[in-house]
Amino acid sequence: MKFFIDTANLDEIREAYELGVLDGVTTNPSLMAKGGISGDEKVKAHYKSICDIVDDKVSAEVIATDFEGMVKEGLALAKIDDKIVVKIPIIRDGLKALKYFHSEGIRTNCTLIFSAGQALLAAKAGASYVSPFIGRLDDISYDGMELIAQIVHIYQNYNYETEVLAASVRHSMHLLKCAEVGADVVTCPLKVITGLLKHPLTDSGLATFLADHAKAAGK
Ligand code: G3P
Repeated sequence: MKFFIDTANLDEIREAYELGVLDGVTTNPSLMAKGGISGDEKVKAHYKSICDIVDDKVSAEVIATDFEGMVKEGLALAKIDDKIVVKIPIIRDGLKALKYFHSEGIRTNCTLIFSAGQALLAAKAGASYVSPFIGRLDDISYDGMELIAQIVHIYQNYNYETEVLAASVRHSMHLLKCAEVGADVVTCPLKVITGLLKHPLTDSGLATFLADHAKAAGK
């Protein structure tokens, strides 16, 4: 299972990379805005800085919603670095753009997936990844995890190469459940990944080991 971090914050990306378990980064226009990153050149420079930290797979989202605009923006993003994955929303022109980038050998992440039908279309159009949003479905009383399982099942039925990238992952149990149902990737804030480390028995066990060691050493 691959772990991506969902942020535009360079310090957080560096910290996650140094943990040794990071496989990629996702961003979106809201996360870029949250980081105060705006303006074409600044945005591109920021993506380059992210690419310089990690080994591969940096999702950079287009803003255009028409085919020509998405292609133009996506090509410009892909030119920044070979690590860029062009992020495209699941809308009518987005499907055409997915097909175009697939034919050009440029990787894509199809975002804002909220139904299995959308995920099926994205796979048929040649998306490299689909991003179903778990937390946002949970927020409105739909079962986000059920959607992940459904998409995994459908892709397995037809051997689609598109990877299921679970997004809007809010806590460590979301992440673990994604692993259980077979999501290929999760993207989440760093605290969701570090949350997996925590166990009270590890903390108390370590405290006992250290205390016993100190006692034996006569400290
Ligand atoms: O990758 C999508 C993600 O950023 C959305 O997360 O928590 O805003 O629903 P959230």
